[in-house]
Amino acid sequence: MPNQITLTVSTGTPPYNIYVCDITNTYCYFATTFGGGTITFDSPSPLGYTTPILIKIVDSLNCETFELYQCVPTQTPTLTPTVTPTPTGPCTCCCIEVSSNNSSGGTFTYTDCFGNVFNDVFVPPYSTVYYCGSNVTNLVNAALNYGSPCVNGTCIPPTPTPTLTPTITSLPCISYSLFLPNTSFDDALVSFDPCCDNPPPIGYMPYSPFILERGNTPTFICSTTYPIVLTGPNPIITVIGTCPCPTPTPTPTVAGYTMTQVRANNNAQSCWTVVNDYVYNLTSWINSHPGGSGAILFLCGTDGTNAFKAQHENQSRPAIRLDGYKLGPLNK
Ligand code: HEM
Repeated sequence: MPNQITLTVSTGTPPYNIYVCDITNTYCYFATTFGGGTITFDSPSPLGYTTPILIKIVDSLNCETFELYQCVPTQTPTLTPTVTPTPTGPCTCCCIEVSSNNSSGGTFTYTDCFGNVFNDVFVPPYSTVYYCGSNVTNLVNAALNYGSPCVNGTCIPPTPTPTLTPTITSLPCISYSLFLPNTSFDDALVSFDPCCDNPPPIGYMPYSPFILERGNTPTFICSTTYPIVLTGPNPIITVIGTCPCPTPTPTPTVAGYTMTQVRANNNAQSCWTVVNDYVYNLTSWINSHPGGSGAILFLCGTDGTNAFKAQHENQSRPAIRLDGYKLGPLNK
């Protein structure tokens, strides 16, 4: 039922125009006219049900009088706030830190931040691996620590505290295969500590850090530490075995690639180019380049420095991308 207002007016000069206004006197709506005394009327729309409101009485000389109309709100029973229990379970997307303390390494099972379960994840000998997720089970020869919540799906390992004990000088050089399914939400930027140059079964490996593209063929690396994902999703990392490192002998000359080798890799099946005196294998980038495959095909087998600079000088993303395909220096 709308506000029913009863008003007695004795001041001013009749007749009176009655308006109903909002409390700030900004919007006023005409209600009725009367000649004085007492009157009852309904508050006009759209202030029919609103309170508080102002009743504005304007007499025939345009003098205004205001009255406040306010209904005391009906008491609503106060609800006792129910305490929502705070979840006490483990964080579902936290930094999992698992360490192995023996020469054969360890394994464990965990659930990543998207609910995918990874069984028997390998922890290389005497090393620590970091993953984002929860629910670590089946720890074999490995010790677990839960860390802080992961940031943007990435677990940044803590900076190691320097120890005064002598450091282990030679860590095992292990070959890993890294693969990102094409269902992953992005490519990943992966960092590792390279050791041997030629991880089986391919003849070269990317420089660290490198972009691991989703849906691409596995990338093989030789590293003394377990690869770390700097940004992006966690790849499937498989340990292939020990890398067949040749005994390091002092190299008399700078190892590198010749322009003759570059010119031989001049097609979509094997596309090498040179940028600023470094040789790059762009084969797998041809069909992924946002600027079109033609721009990359044009560079195959040539020195692409000028073309790359003309298009991408001072752009960080193309430079990082290019770095992921580096083979080595160009011998002049
Ligand atoms: C040499 C190797 C090259 C690499 C590694 C490379 C890499 C990239 C990357 C990462 C982007 C995306 C940039 C972003 O998202 O901010 C990009 C875009 C682009 N690139 Fe390249 N690029 C190369 C060569 C070239 C060349 C030679 C050209 C032209 C002749 C070119 C033309 C373009 C254009 C037009 C875009 C923008 C596409 C768009 O925004 O729709 N690129 N490139």
